[in-house]
Amino acid sequence: MSGKKVLVVPGDGIGPEVIAEAVKVATWFVDHGRLAIEFDEADVGGAAIETIGKPIAEETVAKAKHADAVLFGSVGGPQWDFLDVGKRAGDGLLTLRRALGLFANLRPIRVPSALADTTSLKRETVDGLDFLIIRELTGGIYFGEPRGIETLADGTERGFNTETYSTDEVRRVANIAFGIARDRGGWVHSIDKANVLEASQVWRRAITQYHREEHADVRLDHMLVDNGALQLIRNPSQFSVLVMGNMFGDILSDGAAALTGSLGMLPSASIGAARPDGTFQGLFEPIHGTAPDIAGLGIANPVGMILSLAMLFEFSLGAKSDGDRIVAAVDRVLDHGIRTADIAGRDHRPVSTPEFGDAVIAELSKG
Ligand code: IPM
Ligand code: MG
Repeated sequence: MSGKKVLVVPGDGIGPEVIAEAVKVATWFVDHGRLAIEFDEADVGGAAIETIGKPIAEETVAKAKHADAVLFGSVGGPQWDFLDVGKRAGDGLLTLRRALGLFANLRPIRVPSALADTTSLKRETVDGLDFLIIRELTGGIYFGEPRGIETLADGTERGFNTETYSTDEVRRVANIAFGIARDRGGWVHSIDKANVLEASQVWRRAITQYHREEHADVRLDHMLVDNGALQLIRNPSQFSVLVMGNMFGDILSDGAAALTGSLGMLPSASIGAARPDGTFQGLFEPIHGTAPDIAGLGIANPVGMILSLAMLFEFSLGAKSDGDRIVAAVDRVLDHGIRTADIAGRDHRPVSTPEFGDAVIAELSKG
């Protein structure tokens, strides 16, 4: 049986450490005859800058295009993040998102009851939270033109970027949001800044019209992004599915991550249009960064990475039940009090990254 192609990109910092645990989990499913996967590996980010002098090779982009999915660790580090535009570690990731047409970024925010005391918020505010942030990923101010830095007559500088959204860009990401919302209680909050920005006015008009035309069975509410930031902290359980532009999604998803106690807990999926069989080519990565301060110590939390693999199974391999099995195994490990240092609290001896991965395998093996 020829397997699905998964390109593994460990990246920088703690990326290689956490991705090793996700690959361990994926391999368990292969070894038990559940899935056929062919793995390949590539460097992106600082790892690529060090070997080939740029954050991604053309060959890597080609490999990613031919893969069913990319499993991605994390890229970046102070020595590479402030190079010129196009040469920074993060540019390798932006290139992949753009080249693969991954216009929708899904960031589920879940707080298992076992972790409701590890956050800086009250237990009753966060216990059992389960909502989804959908961030538009290939448009907005991240890619809008013109952009640049010019030197003014007096020798000082002026930097500029452009926030843009077109009707079609809004409709395609909204299509994913409404589709998912239909399976999750049927409520979408669209986040924008339509009281100030023209790009947001188009966003709001486009999603309102599309909703009326094709998704009127789902409830759609609009919220301004500043109020959205407030509501996410004050009363996050009001949300089910949120959809927003690239920059607002970047910011609010990190904010929402704080609801879970640790950035290390959260997975993400970046997908484009559905393939004929209903699966998606995608890139799956934890939302945390490279955490250079703890890289190499073997203490990073691999949960976000392992749950990203669960999303890969669901969205790219059409293996939702296997993905659900991973999520359940991770929840049971946490229930047993097995925690990495970032979520250990006072009552638990922190385990290492590989020990956590082994505990997940042990739970999977119990069936
Ligand atoms: C993220 C990251 C990236 C982004 C960086 C690394 C380019 O912050 O995935 O949220 O801003 O999109
Ligand atoms: Mg970010």
